[in-house]
Amino acid sequence: MRKPLMAGNWKMNCTVKDAVELVKELKKYVKDVKNTEILVCPPFTALNEVSRTVKDSNIELGAQNMGYEDSGAFTGEISPLMLRELKCRYVILGHSERRHIFNENDGVINKKIKCALKNNLKPILCVGETLLQRRANLTKKIILNQIQNGLKDIKADDMKNIVVAYEPVWAIGTGKTAMPYQAQEIHASIRDLLEDMFNQDVGFNTRIIYGGSVKPDNIKELMMQSDIDGALVGGASLKAKDFSQIIRY
Ligand code: PGA
Repeated sequence: MRKPLMAGNWKMNCTVKDAVELVKELKKYVKDVKNTEILVCPPFTALNEVSRTVKDSNIELGAQNMGYEDSGAFTGEISPLMLRELKCRYVILGHSERRHIFNENDGVINKKIKCALKNNLKPILCVGETLLQRRANLTKKIILNQIQNGLKDIKADDMKNIVVAYEPVWAIGTGKTAMPYQAQEIHASIRDLLEDMFNQDVGFNTRIIYGGSVKPDNIKELMMQSDIDGALVGGASLKAKDFSQIIRY
């Protein structure tokens, strides 16, 4: 069975001090949680201290982005080797803020996914449509394109290390969550696509998590949907209590 994953994306928030306080508080609230995988993705500058704080706990560490080479002349980029050194297990790739504000395209995201896998980091591939695209009835087409291009040349065997996050752009940070049935419909079509692209096992076993204004009061209904395997949480993951309630849904 697919183990639920609750991932906190802290975005460009928290100094090192704030980050350590937040994760210490979270640790207390969730120390007995076993059946759900818990992940926090602080900004790069806080990874080292947060890594020390979560050592030997049930909280895993991830980064919010990554360069697509191991090293070299890439000013301002962070390599997978640097993330591994700090004990990161996951990396969020292709977040809509990276796509829309920083112009990352599917080709770049595909390179990052390959580089992450090569370095034993588990990519969380984010996909999602804008409001205009949804209104033009393009949701499925956009998402299928993002997945087909993002996962180009990835082997079926590598899919066990990849998580897909469906995050409708219009629901991120807006307080507007997709209705659970709307999210379920897209998750199910992503699962069908993965089955077509790879095989039945990949379709069945890949975790597909939902993101976009997830809060303690809407997580339960989202998690009741058969193809929703967890959440990628922005704003609400910055409050230890709220995030712990989401984790315990
Ligand atoms: P939000 O962000 O929960 O604040 O909407 C989700 C995300 O961008 O991953």
